[in-house]
Amino acid sequence: MTVVYQVYPRSFQDSDGDGVGDLAGIRSRLDHLVWLGVDALWLSPIYPSPMADFGYDVSDYTDVDPVFGDLAAFDALVREAHDRGLRLLMDVVPCHTSIEHPWFTEHPDWYIWRDEPNNWLSAFGGSAWAPLDGRYYLHSFYPEQADLDWRNPEVVAAMQDGLRFWLDRGADGYRIDAIDRLLKDPHLRDDPPATEPFGLPLSEAEAKLARIYSGNAPDTGRALAKIREACGDAFLVGEVYLPSSRWAPYLEHFDAAFAFELLHSPWEAGALRAAVERSTRAPGAAWVLSNHDFGRLSTRFGDENARAAALLLLMLPGPAFLYQGDEIGQGEGPPGERRFDRAGRDRHRHPMQWDGSPSGGFTTGEAWLPVVDAPERNVADQRDDPGSMLTLVRELVALRRELPDGFELLDAADGVLAFRRGGHTVAINTTAEERPAPVRGEARIQTAPGALSRGLLAPHAGAVAMG
Ligand code: NOJ
Repeated sequence: MTVVYQVYPRSFQDSDGDGVGDLAGIRSRLDHLVWLGVDALWLSPIYPSPMADFGYDVSDYTDVDPVFGDLAAFDALVREAHDRGLRLLMDVVPCHTSIEHPWFTEHPDWYIWRDEPNNWLSAFGGSAWAPLDGRYYLHSFYPEQADLDWRNPEVVAAMQDGLRFWLDRGADGYRIDAIDRLLKDPHLRDDPPATEPFGLPLSEAEAKLARIYSGNAPDTGRALAKIREACGDAFLVGEVYLPSSRWAPYLEHFDAAFAFELLHSPWEAGALRAAVERSTRAPGAAWVLSNHDFGRLSTRFGDENARAAALLLLMLPGPAFLYQGDEIGQGEGPPGERRFDRAGRDRHRHPMQWDGSPSGGFTTGEAWLPVVDAPERNVADQRDDPGSMLTLVRELVALRRELPDGFELLDAADGVLAFRRGGHTVAINTTAEERPAPVRGEARIQTAPGALSRGLLAPHAGAVAMG
């Protein structure tokens, strides 16, 4: 697996004019992914869901939400993806179900309950416990997402069935949601006050607690082994929201873990280098710089750095995950008239911009979130433009395919991140001034014409040179 393209199904392509993307729409755009040269697509959740967390609140693990299509539409998508040589990863949400999942009423003992809340906090703010019928159930995320008890063998068996279901239908693997929250302290002890920083951003309240009991329990490996058992040798990448120094138990069972230290690093060469260095200590880093939770390359690192960020993402060793729209430098959207995500993530989820029409070619109806700036930024225009971000991303994906293994961080001038990668030197200037780059040969790929000239990198530029 080298480059995986993240499809956010609601916002990729609508086929039926209801303003929400769907599986038939994704199928009609597979050729874009082939043209771009990626190996696989990852579908954010498509299961039936009340959409309190836009699909991350699953109410049935073995079906498709009608807004996205049906199982036949999934089968057609997987078939056509495979016909084109693309693999397909599903998104599995094992930590919690929707409270509208029939399991929640039929099998309350599959969930985690207490007579009184402890001090654990939900990732979205406030107590992680919600009252129901005189008791409290645990929800590490929204109250509509009740945490499953993975120490209950019936839960494990039911989840294994769900995992096998999609692999049997042709899926090639999973991105596994919030996996560091899978197992908690069996005694549900209070988290103590934090004595050192967690290492990744948390909400202000969460950061005050050392999250040692509310997740990442010492016996997590047993549950991960059950996930692996159901998945055979399918590709598994974990959303392990922990510093990379704590990945080991996860990588014993999964192929990769998202390197969130890099995603959260400021666009500054020293910080980027330190994050890459830490995450490459153990093999298994999957690189990601943006997604449906944290925002887009062009807004997070600045429009002026978006190309260099794409170059970094695609030149690092190991799987790289590219979020839909980042290949054209799509920006964040303004708030829509209606607010959908209570945690404020709508702005990262605006529709894909395929052409310069007002709807961006996304829908014939009214898009669920407004299309941001399709006339200025769209796939159709950038495809024909040799100087576009889309052309750059395509060239990087193609080069990456040829690169042999090998990775070594290099010393470089202040403000320059540089590494050797498969017989090439990659150098990125994170500053607004010209900087020397430790390269010998001519640029093979550069973020803009003349970005690398006589060993000097232009401001905000990046380049890959032979040798
Ligand atoms: C991580 C997902 O990416 C995010 O969108 C979701 O809200 C949480 N996990 C909870 O499932």
